[in-house]
Amino acid sequence: MKFKTIIEPFKIKSVESLPITTPKERKSFLEREYWNVFGLKSQEVTVDLLTDSGTGSMSSEQWAAIMRGDEAYAGSHSWQRFHDVVADLTGYKHIIPTHQGRASEKILATVTVKEGDIIPSNSHFDTTRANFEFVKAEPIDLLCKEGLDLLSPAPFKGNIDLEKLEDILSRKGEKIPFVLMTITNNTGGGQPVSMENLKSTKKLCEKYNKMLLLDACRFAENAWFVSQREEDYKGVEIRDITKEAFRLADGCTISLKKDGFGNIGGILAFNDDQLAEASRNLLILTEGFPTYGGLAGRDLDALAQGLKEITDKNYLEYRARSISYLGEKALSYGIPIVQPAGGHALYIDAKTFVPHIPPHQYPGHSVACEIYLIGGVRAVELGTLAFGVAGANGEPDKPATHELVRLAAPRRTYTQSHFDYVAEVLEKLAESKEKLKGYEIIEQPEQLRHFTAKLRPLT
Ligand code: F0G
Repeated sequence: MKFKTIIEPFKIKSVESLPITTPKERKSFLEREYWNVFGLKSQEVTVDLLTDSGTGSMSSEQWAAIMRGDEAYAGSHSWQRFHDVVADLTGYKHIIPTHQGRASEKILATVTVKEGDIIPSNSHFDTTRANFEFVKAEPIDLLCKEGLDLLSPAPFKGNIDLEKLEDILSRKGEKIPFVLMTITNNTGGGQPVSMENLKSTKKLCEKYNKMLLLDACRFAENAWFVSQREEDYKGVEIRDITKEAFRLADGCTISLKKDGFGNIGGILAFNDDQLAEASRNLLILTEGFPTYGGLAGRDLDALAQGLKEITDKNYLEYRARSISYLGEKALSYGIPIVQPAGGHALYIDAKTFVPHIPPHQYPGHSVACEIYLIGGVRAVELGTLAFGVAGANGEPDKPATHELVRLAAPRRTYTQSHFDYVAEVLEKLAESKEKLKGYEIIEQPEQLRHFTAKLRPLT
């Protein structure tokens, strides 16, 4: 029997109070922080949708696993349990634990990439891009055509453009150490990559003798969409889809703060012996001994358990539904969103929503501030404030391609009524859109300005 209501497939054992604030308080908190939501204290945020990274809730089995943690410096039992789960899931020969995704990226960039190299991807995440740029390589995004159209509801908008990939592999092959596929594609709106696209990418990599690597932070969410949207995979177990996806590639980086159900943790994995050896040598310098890599034994145990739980289809159904539910509500209020709703987040298209605010006055930022002012919900701007280039000598900024606002859902943390509350906030946002004003920056750092820039609303 199929029910209309998709319930949270868990019950709550431990709770944390949520702060309920007044509009006046919220205004004063934002004013105090020069209108930057990153400055807010978590006690000032009612529903925190800033990120789905490291913000999820652990299960009682994960907390029990924490107690099993073995803190031996080398060869701990926790490491063995972690290793066995990851090796079974991914099939890779060498598993290297790190403290989070970008630590894996840093090692990967150092051991595989040299100045002048080109790294093609469907879309690089910002830290991945920054790590490749740091070694003077050129990361390039080859997102498929459907992905470029924010509002089209195509099923696999995270795919790579295979024609463009073949073109660059044939012309610049000697400069390309590997191809990197991000599943799901965070930068492109949390959109999935199809198994068909992954298989075709693999074929091209074989043809041009290149490694295929995955940035697999959200591997389970990707597999869920594959099971729902790709004909050949309907009815296939999520675990089996996941295993197949990993086995199409030659290695991966993963931030376990996402689909590892962890508050911290990462993986770098390869089949190649030499790369693994070079990575482990660097790991010892920067992270720790190869059987703990920057993590406590107890973290490794919690992650091993989390990696078993994440492929539960009831959980994935509830998760995908929470986001698509919010998406349907947003659309019904006339708020344009990236379609279809992503795996971990809803993305509002601020450029279409508040066209009266030009990019250099940060429409996405204005929407994010308003969402906080209305209901204490924290979202993040992913537009010209985050990705634009500051204009020199009073010139306006060079705008980003899109002006998005991301509402990312932490895993297993909020319930249906929280999502209903967020929907109500969005309804009020839609009512007030005409009166939204742009912002100006009064102080900004040279890099990654959105984290610390000081702003003020234009009058
Ligand atoms: N790759 C992707 C696709 C990511 O989304 C992230 C992090 C990373 C790599 C880096 O992992 O944070 O553990 O170092 N994304 C977070 C976010 C920060 O909010 O989307 P990390």
